Amino acid sequence: MPVSASLASQAPERAAEPQPKTPLLGWSAFLPAAGTRLPAVDGTRHRAHTTSGRAALWAALRQMDLPPGSGVLVPTYHCPTMVAPIVLAGHRPVYYAIGEDGLPLLESIAEPSASGARAMFVAHYFGLPASLHAVRTWCDAHGVVLVEDCAHSFFGMAGDRPVGQWGDYATASLSKFFPVMEGGLLASQRHPLRALRLANAGLRYQVKCLLDPVELGAQFGRLAGLQHLLALALRMKRQGRPAPPDARSADAGDSEPDLDAMKQCDMQRVGQAPGWATLALYHLLPRQGIVQRRRDNYDRLARGLQSLPGARLLQPVLRPDAVPYVCPLWVEGAARADAVYARMRDDGLAVYRWDRLWPGVPRDTRDFGIRWSHEVIQLICHQDLRAGQIDHTVAAARRLLART
Ligand SMILES: Cc1ncc(COP(=O)(O)O)c(C=O)c1O
Repeated sequence: MPVSASLASQAPERAAEPQPKTPLLGWSAFLPAAGTRLPAVDGTRHRAHTTSGRAALWAALRQMDLPPGSGVLVPTYHCPTMVAPIVLAGHRPVYYAIGEDGLPLLESIAEPSASGARAMFVAHYFGLPASLHAVRTWCDAHGVVLVEDCAHSFFGMAGDRPVGQWGDYATASLSKFFPVMEGGLLASQRHPLRALRLANAGLRYQVKCLLDPVELGAQFGRLAGLQHLLALALRMKRQGRPAPPDARSADAGDSEPDLDAMKQCDMQRVGQAPGWATLALYHLLPRQGIVQRRRDNYDRLARGLQSLPGARLLQPVLRPDAVPYVCPLWVEGAARADAVYARMRDDGLAVYRWDRLWPGVPRDTRDFGIRWSHEVIQLICHQDLRAGQIDHTVAAARRLLART
């Protein structure tokens, strides 16, 4: 019997244990591991730390000194946190379509001189980066500043360059690859960075940056031996908990739909420096294990999810120089994808979908971005998912696809 079929027949209806959606802090995270060494976004010449990937995008725009209201090209297939920094910086999103390879459909983009576009965000989706040679050439020809969004691709090669080295600026999100509460990076191989002038975080935030990853790791049983100390620390943390902040931003554009979308993106800390614990973990933790285990998890998912009815992996074979963020599964037909995704969520699987587009995104049916926003389900494959959890996802996905 093929591996996938045997898994499907043995699968319980729900995961035996909940699946962590983000990397976990555990003792094993500190152990050096064997595996391939791959370049990373922070191999660029110039770097500055922020609290998140969205804060890094905002900081990138501020480096450029664009006139207020400038157009910033952004893909129709996006996480709203890619658009919020544009609006917060006082600029205007100008959407572009993507092709089946996830790259901008350059020939369909209106002349920047007509649209007022002065910068462009291009993302390496899913941690499966590709060469941006054609995009770089287009940006140079049109005088557009290229921001390479590496939120999904902290490690790896994008064609013949390391990730982060095609853009005038590159941005990254630490919390997607490291067991930290939040954290981001603004990087550039081409331009020295002007000081970001971030406000120092208060003591409460510093404590939170340390305790949140510890709490999450312990919740999932990864910090054996720390329970008593942790219980005490968490009691202290809860006593000092502030009221939840109002996420409304003063600069958040003036239309109500924009405001609602902005509120959901939590842009509160874009002007703040990241916590010491975040930076310490980022600098201290060995990286080869992160790279290797993410690749292993992707391979395990991909092997289990071959030959599915009405669905396929966008990249069935992982390239040797890629370090995935997720494993994208394309379920054909929006209605079916909606049903499969809803059932996966009900089953407690670690999955995402980018179905919350920023208000006003043009809906061109030839644009793969619009189709992907419904039909691509992102299966999580981070380093702290165990083989049994991956197998559970495979079995559940196969079962749901066969039935739905
Ligand atoms: C492509 C992309 N860019 C930027 C971001 C923002 O990153 P962060 O969540 O660290 O702010 C995300 C978040 O999911 C993303 O997917």
